[in-house]
Amino acid sequence: MGVIVKLYEYIQDLVAERPEVFLAFALVLCVQLRILGTRTPTYESQSFKNSTLAADIQEAGAAVDDEVADADHSEEPEEHVPYQPIRYTEQEMVERSRAHYTLMNNRRSVRDFSTEDVPREVIDNIIRVGGTGPSGAHTEPWTYVVVRSAEKKREIREIIEAEEKVNYARRMGEKWVDDLSHIGTTWSKPYLEECPYIIIVFKSAHSKNPDGSKKIHYYHEISSSIGVGFLLGAVQNAGLCSVTTTPMNAGPKLRAVCGRPESEKVLVLLPVGYPRSDATVPDLHRKPLNDIMVVV
Ligand SMILES: Cc1cc2nc3c(=O)[nH]c(=O)nc-3n(C[C@H](O)[C@H](O)[C@H](O)COP(=O)(O)O)c2cc1C
Repeated sequence: MGVIVKLYEYIQDLVAERPEVFLAFALVLCVQLRILGTRTPTYESQSFKNSTLAADIQEAGAAVDDEVADADHSEEPEEHVPYQPIRYTEQEMVERSRAHYTLMNNRRSVRDFSTEDVPREVIDNIIRVGGTGPSGAHTEPWTYVVVRSAEKKREIREIIEAEEKVNYARRMGEKWVDDLSHIGTTWSKPYLEECPYIIIVFKSAHSKNPDGSKKIHYYHEISSSIGVGFLLGAVQNAGLCSVTTTPMNAGPKLRAVCGRPESEKVLVLLPVGYPRSDATVPDLHRKPLNDIMVVV
């Protein structure tokens, strides 16, 4: 208590004798407080952690870390060029949208593949379509690894089946396994060797700018997943089939087989080829328009 009284008396004396020193001190204090109050928050700071904005930013893959904050890199604004729209008549639009729906509604996840080969150019074009997807800040956070070699396909099958055995027996739990029972999937995946191609889609949260600074891939998971949607549409358009495969816990080993860097994570694995002539699919039904569309 005595210290506080002494400090109070000292400040009183200081204000009386050297008001300019006191004013300078008060000014510095105000500036400091303002800096603390308006500083760009990092995700790790407690108040920021609790905000919805923090969650959104983390979701976007933009959590600020020191390396990124310090990176001295700014993009030049892109030149804008005229957009070249494709314009159809209303009749054409109706016909095209109907035909496209019919095509896509015919898509099914197929797990019985023919060993028949597929022209390589078709695979290239399918991947090109995947690469046309939109991405957060145009960061294109995807890599499509095309597996062609029989030996690699066997390795991939072994990795996935080993993990799926544990997934089905322990990791997924009774409820999940039960929810999957009507689809008829098991740990066994012979189609991974039968299909002519496996496309493994990798997503990455960041890469490097040409100057070596870190480049953040905003919304990398959403962006890469949209790319997969485009790609699956292209597979269907080519008259081929696939099954979206997400083998839990197999990512790091698959990455090693593909020789990809640690910054890339497996998003999905897509066997691609023709369906076997005796292929079957579960008799699933899709929700009608009224159940999935709300007009406000
Ligand atoms: C994100 C995602 C993950 C999936 N993971 C698997 C999987 O690991 N193994 C599998 O056989 N099918 C998987 N599927 C396929 C679904 O079982 C299939 O899409 C669903 O049963 C509907 O059937 P359809 O694709 O024929 O319309 C996955 C699908 C999605 C979208």
